[in-house]
Amino acid sequence: MTVTPRLTDTPTWRALQTHFESVRELHLRGLFAEDPGRGDRMVLEAAGLYLDYSKNRMTDETRRLLVQLAVERGVGERRDAMFRGERINVSEDRAVLHVALRAPRGSHILVDGHDVVPDVHAVLDRMADLAGRVRSGEWRGFTGRRVKTVINIGIGGSYLGPEMACLALRSCSDRSIETRFVSNIDGADLVEATADLDPAETLFVVSSKTFTTLETMTNAYSARQWLLSALGDEAAVGRHFVAVSTNAAEVERFGIGSSNTFGFWDWVGGRYSMDSAIGLSLMIAVGPENFFAMLAGFRAMDEHFLTAPLDRNMPVILGLLAVWYNNFFGAQTQAVLPYSSALARFPAYLQQLQMESNGKRVDIEGRPVGYDTGPIIWGEPGTDSQHSFFQLLHQGTKLVPCDLIGFAAPLSALEFHHDLLMANLFAQAEALAFGRTVSELKTLGAGAGQIPFRVVEGNHPTNVILADVLTPRTLGSLIALYEHSVFTQGAIWAIDSFDQWGVELGKALAGRIIPELTEVEEPGLEHDSSTNALIRRYRDARRAERE
Ligand code: F6P
Repeated sequence: MTVTPRLTDTPTWRALQTHFESVRELHLRGLFAEDPGRGDRMVLEAAGLYLDYSKNRMTDETRRLLVQLAVERGVGERRDAMFRGERINVSEDRAVLHVALRAPRGSHILVDGHDVVPDVHAVLDRMADLAGRVRSGEWRGFTGRRVKTVINIGIGGSYLGPEMACLALRSCSDRSIETRFVSNIDGADLVEATADLDPAETLFVVSSKTFTTLETMTNAYSARQWLLSALGDEAAVGRHFVAVSTNAAEVERFGIGSSNTFGFWDWVGGRYSMDSAIGLSLMIAVGPENFFAMLAGFRAMDEHFLTAPLDRNMPVILGLLAVWYNNFFGAQTQAVLPYSSALARFPAYLQQLQMESNGKRVDIEGRPVGYDTGPIIWGEPGTDSQHSFFQLLHQGTKLVPCDLIGFAAPLSALEFHHDLLMANLFAQAEALAFGRTVSELKTLGAGAGQIPFRVVEGNHPTNVILADVLTPRTLGSLIALYEHSVFTQGAIWAIDSFDQWGVELGKALAGRIIPELTEVEEPGLEHDSSTNALIRRYRDARRAERE
């Protein structure tokens, strides 16, 4: 068995530590003054995306060392192993093949000797058929009515991607069919989503890899109840529910037949599944053609990731910069700021992608890592965020590297708004990098008493990602960019980016507490004193409310 050398013991890591001491005090003002071509040079173009990474606190030597680190940590070999279908998800002993979900028809990817590409396309074809029938009105509900609302019931990876993409691609969606999402086990989520709907015109897509997730199954059974109390016949379920799952047996138990079930495979992680059948609600909203265009965007970035040299590889550079700030500058968080209201849910999507993937404390050999892993991801669209948390970014004490995402062309006909929007993106990247100095303030006539408060230090790193326009294809490229950046970071840290054992404990404990809340007689509580007291208080409040 090969033992992965500890990251912090490797020669390049040590070289980076020494190098860091020589660059940590450098200011972006100085870096740009000494190298005026930096903004044209430290850029990359791939799969319809343009990345300007020049406003990072790095030199050419930083990049050289980071790329050397990627070589030393076997990022390329690990990537190739993923694309070959090897079981790189070691703790679950699974292949990691979301890239197969967008592999072109006729290509070949083997898992245990079986070519999975025809399977992927068979499901895509069935999805396209269903989406086409729902969109055209050929698919009818139990009483013969057309579907007016599609509700995706799912959570985590079975919700965040389709929801994010439905909003992102709203401009190319069929407005006669509304798509809604129910994820939270809070009954208000389902009740509010269905309150104004006619069950006879509603189609539920129950999306769950396992088909055992508490939230999804509870919501699905309540939705079933809502439907049946209106339509009164079990046979209606088959006209108003379809399922997306790897668990055919559980789907059947729910009452959904195989012709209305869309499968995927254990080599697709939940947070990497939005381009599988989990995207069914999205495909119904935007149509098969747009969905396939999105897959082409994913594929273009996959090809770039697979073939571009590491020092010109966009996801690799993005991932290495994340490691640079996380492990050398000690940045705990990273903000993602799309200058596009259509991408309002992109940060939430990336939270799961990044934090469930790289929030790990042992390496792939089970040893405590001994260094920081995945950063906390957060963000909101600009320009709204400028009026809420940007103050801290500019003048707070924390270093928050930011990704700013924008588009050359607007989605709306209000062209002038778009110039203003993009002017703000460019201005924020500029202000974060260069700030405002005492002498600039004096030139502007600022009073001496105010100057300390008005100085903006700058030197806050940003990546600016630009594309021509937010199309399905661009969206696919953008998502794949982040998927592979997350992969790169995980490979450097030598962690398993594809398991999520940490979320299991809470699920198990909730399973134990549920009967303690619902049983009429108070059960003997054997938790810690805090949990016992909280449960008693809740039971008392519920009893008082009922009386
Ligand atoms: O919260 C953990 C998790 O397993 C995620 O990884 C997954 O995306 C989500 O739950 C939903 O799981 P499922 O698709 O099986 O319902």
